[in-house]
Amino acid sequence: KTITTDEKSSDVVWHEASVTPAQRESNNGHQGAVLWFTGLSGSGKSTVANAVDKMLHDRGCKTYILDGDNVRHGLNKDLGFNDVDRIENIRRIGEVSNLFVDAGLIVCSAFISPFIADRAMVRALLPETRFIEVFIDTPISICEQRDPKGLYKKARAGEIKNFTGIDSAYEAPDAAEIHIKTAELSVEMCAKQVINYMLDNNIIS
Ligand code: PPS
Repeated sequence: KTITTDEKSSDVVWHEASVTPAQRESNNGHQGAVLWFTGLSGSGKSTVANAVDKMLHDRGCKTYILDGDNVRHGLNKDLGFNDVDRIENIRRIGEVSNLFVDAGLIVCSAFISPFIADRAMVRALLPETRFIEVFIDTPISICEQRDPKGLYKKARAGEIKNFTGIDSAYEAPDAAEIHIKTAELSVEMCAKQVINYMLDNNIIS
């Protein structure tokens, strides 16, 4: 549904919470942050994000994971894969991630998020240094070889339209905080690369 100007929330006033984000972080014993995993379908975003989530959880961190397939079953089930819907998908996930960070959590968000401008928009939404872009850099030839859901096969056969990397663009980051090459490392090594970044940057201790 298109919201008209009259219906927009122009008279809504921001209400400050009594507990500050810093106080929430202090209770949790670590900073809030979003680890934003971006990469092609089948690149390993969800696999690495889950491994990182588990490692952080086992260290006692307060974490949560947001994943493309899951969020598209609920919050974003009204969205498809044309450019406009993908932009709205990432905008909503960005807002949700921001709420988790405000709550002092470390959220692993794993979405193709194919467009540079949308990832920049999410970065701008969050407090500085709380957006950590993790580029899951797996060549499309390997993603297609893995094809865990058979989607590349369907896309090549023309049964799926607007498939990322085939007939829809993927704009790779050129300055992601963390650059992971899944074809060269085990899942555990990939996850450790993220944990080491967080230790080195005093996000966790
Ligand atoms: S996006 O581009 O960020 O809005 O996509 P995302 O929300 O991460 O959803 C990607 C998952 O949706 C499945 N799928 C498709 N991906 C890309 N293109 C098309 N056309 C498409 N149709 C369905 C696919 O399972 C993606 O999951 P991953 O884990 O990335 O393989």
